[in-house]
Amino acid sequence: MRFSSFAAESGGQGPEVRVWGASDVLVVTAPLPGALRVRLLPEARANTLGFPRVGPKRSFALRPDLPAGAPLQVTEAGAELWVSAGGLSLHLNRVTGAWRVVTGHGPADDGAEGRELVSALDWSGEAPTQRPALDAERFNLRRTRLHLDAPDGAMYLGFGERVGPLDKRGMHLTFWNTDCFPHHTETDPLYVSVPFTTVLQGGRAHGVFVDEPWRMEVDVARAHPTELRWASAGPELDVYVLAGPRPADVLRRYADLTGYAPMPPLWALGAAQSRWGYRTADDLRAVIQGYRDRNLPLDSVYVDIDYMDAYKVWTVSRANFPDLRAFVKEAGEQGVKLVPIVDPGVKLEAGYDVYEEAAKGDHLVRTARGDVLVGEVWPDPAVFPDFTRPEVVAWWAGRHKFFADAGIQGQWNDMNEPACFSLRQPRETEGKTLPYDARHGTRTHLEVHNAYANGMSEASRLGYAKFSPNVRPWVLTRAGYAGIQRHATVWTGDNTATWSHLALSLPMIQGLGLSGIPFAAADVGGFAGDTTGELLARWYQAAVGYAFVRNHAALGTADQEPWRFGEAVTDVIRSALELRYRLLPHLYTLAHAATRTALPVLRPLALHWPADEDAAREDTQYLLGEGLLVAPVLRAGH
Ligand code: NOJ
Repeated sequence: MRFSSFAAESGGQGPEVRVWGASDVLVVTAPLPGALRVRLLPEARANTLGFPRVGPKRSFALRPDLPAGAPLQVTEAGAELWVSAGGLSLHLNRVTGAWRVVTGHGPADDGAEGRELVSALDWSGEAPTQRPALDAERFNLRRTRLHLDAPDGAMYLGFGERVGPLDKRGMHLTFWNTDCFPHHTETDPLYVSVPFTTVLQGGRAHGVFVDEPWRMEVDVARAHPTELRWASAGPELDVYVLAGPRPADVLRRYADLTGYAPMPPLWALGAAQSRWGYRTADDLRAVIQGYRDRNLPLDSVYVDIDYMDAYKVWTVSRANFPDLRAFVKEAGEQGVKLVPIVDPGVKLEAGYDVYEEAAKGDHLVRTARGDVLVGEVWPDPAVFPDFTRPEVVAWWAGRHKFFADAGIQGQWNDMNEPACFSLRQPRETEGKTLPYDARHGTRTHLEVHNAYANGMSEASRLGYAKFSPNVRPWVLTRAGYAGIQRHATVWTGDNTATWSHLALSLPMIQGLGLSGIPFAAADVGGFAGDTTGELLARWYQAAVGYAFVRNHAALGTADQEPWRFGEAVTDVIRSALELRYRLLPHLYTLAHAATRTALPVLRPLALHWPADEDAAREDTQYLLGEGLLVAPVLRAGH
């Protein structure tokens, strides 16, 4: 018998049922009605201290104020064990370790078994091994595995920021936040990792969320046509099964666990202009004037890395912005907010106060040998604040006083996968980031990489709350892990000025919405490459229902402000923006609804029409609320 013993007891998160045998442990809790948490710890004897007990686990995803779980009912019937709470039951075969979650109260339902949501066919893991010193081989990236049944016809939505169709069945996905420039229609992974899927079958939905920031993979019925196979580089899998029956119920339960997005300020929903290449206050004045001269609405301008002094975060180039505060005020008088970029990489420079404080306070990520890790981003050399530690988050939050005092109310957190172009202590890495064995306090980078951006954006939220308590801040982030929606909203990173990327923006934003991030958007016009007038105009039209509408382009690309392609194009864009502004009361209401229900602003049809398979697969159209369908033109010459 794989599980000879069990105990119902009180754990760190309320009542729990712990089941164990010679080496493995499984712990069930009921955090919320309609949600069962199943912690799977194979090889726990070798992997954890205190076996067969398991300590509480720190989550980067869960709401910090999650109430203690509900009591569980346990029924033992020979080798079978039933654990029930909140309308769901886990049924465990103690001989094989196979388990399933069904709706209802298990045996208490007088034999009337509920609907099966999840069936775990197999789960296993490995004890830590001393592997050879080669970086990639030293770590077992598939150390812990879970195989769930993936019945024919079930669709798998979400999984964070992904390319491809809304239904991820047939794809193999990796959870490892990556700065990829540019991404393509097949690129995986991207910047955001959310190991949460809504499973749709026969019009009914349930959710599976695996709360592990460790590098993970999920094979969505690709390697095996009827299995959903999770693999983690970490020692356990922390699985939440969420009841439906509607996709909206799953999303709400997910947000009950991981938090709701805060209400964005109205101005952030208006037109925004950005470009990597605006360098000075005068550049921005010209942009604002360009909009006003042509009677185009504008509510914010974003300023990229060139406002800083030598790419030193929390500084402003005196030459480019002689008086930041005065400029913020001046733009504000014209109804325009300034949103500056902030990167996590801190320039290593003696005497630079941010670096000195970080070094003195022991706030920096270290190498496996214990030295401060030194890399290259825009600043070179650069060091990395360790946002996975609360004291570092608090320190970074304090730095926001600089912007808050200047009247800034919005911030754009970039490069927070974290991106790192090269290392001073060379080491193999997966993508342009830090090595697996870099140290975050007692944890390795392999464990916390995906959560890095959450701490950075949490600091922004805390900072503005402290220094500008009466404003509703707007925080944008490129990277994130589950729960990121509490701190920031996401833009989809470095897209290209191509028709395929215009079309791709819809399933990407919809997928983010299905992953609990309700205010996502893509760069309008495309970031890399030169856009065309027709593409830009069509992009503005398609973006009428994006949660926010930001025109942004890369350094060295053709200008793409709305008026750069002649009057005919400008007129089309003006009409699209005017439609956007006419819809603002509705969009603002949807935004408010998102903060209460987790339903995104731009909604996939699947959310409201789950039983209609064509609707559920539709990703060239979207809903704004339940009653408004947007079907934009996504191809040239149409
Ligand atoms: C990468 C970001 O994705 C892009 O939007 C930005 O313009 C560049 N970094 C430069 O800061």
